[in-house]
Amino acid sequence: MTVFGVPTGIRAWAPGRVNLIGDHTDHTGGLALPMAIDLGTTVSGHTGGAVVELRSPIGPEPAIVPLDVDDPAAVSPGWARYVAGVVAELRPSVGLSGSVVTTLPVGAGLSSSAALEVAVALALGFEGSALELAQLGQRAERRASGVPCGIMDQLASAAGVAGHALRIDCTTLEVRPVPLPDDLEVVVVDSGQRRALATSAYADRAAACQAAQASIGPLRDATLADLAGVSDEVVRRRARHVITENARVDHLAEALGSGDRQSMADAMTASHRSLREDFEVSTPELDALVDQLRTVDGVLAARLTGAGFGGCVVALAGRGAPLPDELTLWRVTASAGARLIVGSPKGPAAQQPRA
Ligand code: GLA
Repeated sequence: MTVFGVPTGIRAWAPGRVNLIGDHTDHTGGLALPMAIDLGTTVSGHTGGAVVELRSPIGPEPAIVPLDVDDPAAVSPGWARYVAGVVAELRPSVGLSGSVVTTLPVGAGLSSSAALEVAVALALGFEGSALELAQLGQRAERRASGVPCGIMDQLASAAGVAGHALRIDCTTLEVRPVPLPDDLEVVVVDSGQRRALATSAYADRAAACQAAQASIGPLRDATLADLAGVSDEVVRRRARHVITENARVDHLAEALGSGDRQSMADAMTASHRSLREDFEVSTPELDALVDQLRTVDGVLAARLTGAGFGGCVVALAGRGAPLPDELTLWRVTASAGARLIVGSPKGPAAQQPRA
């Protein structure tokens, strides 16, 4: 088989993710409940040379990254920065020539960049656990984008479990698979709004969380009563979101276990309100979409998912619930994590990430 005319000796696949609840909690060691999805990114190619050269329908220009790349953030085109971030973190001894294809919408809040990082790392011969793979991807993302992101996206992509969401404790880095009820469907709806302000606004929100922690200690351990110790009103609201959102992760995880649809809806509805009012990362487009979905028969609840400022909404719906035709949506299923599908750049030892 050839892709863009090159033999495909190696093929790695990594899923995107949708977060069911627990947004803007990972960078303060909080709780999140994402799942890897059945949309993802495939990197195919063959090893050799002193550059990583990947072509993609994502954009007209290829990613051409020397193995000694110094500053991933200075590389162009934009998508090549994530490839460069991985090269800079992994420092493979040989290059790769091939292609990137994806079934994920790019830049829509479904972690297309994390999927790219994780797939590139596997294709370049990464060896280690799923957690180590995710940590490498997170460092690559930070270097490439300058965004002080948490570990949720890369860990969901690397450690996904079919049929399960993942309760991630971002302090201990423990991942607990939470089975999803058979009678429910996870639906991702694209607002069509791309995330223009995400970089500066994400850093601003992360800084507010750090400011709160400087006053009252780790938000992960804080209670609402502790908020009295935060003098700045805006910082207090940001911290309130994180404290209440951490609690909602366990509410939703428990409700998924017991099948209590009202509790699922309550947790997701409260999460969206908190992201809108306390964390201020929603937009009128996302709010309108959430409101519209709530009126649809068979939809339990909906909330923005991921960083916000555009991107997607996630909804829980009864299986097969008819949804409005005009929406751009994916009925996603929870997927297993990233894997090397073909080949082994370093020989038989370089295989799946260890669990
Ligand atoms: C982005 C970041 C994640 C996480 C989410 C919000 O996707 O990459 O680390 O902070 O936003 O939950």
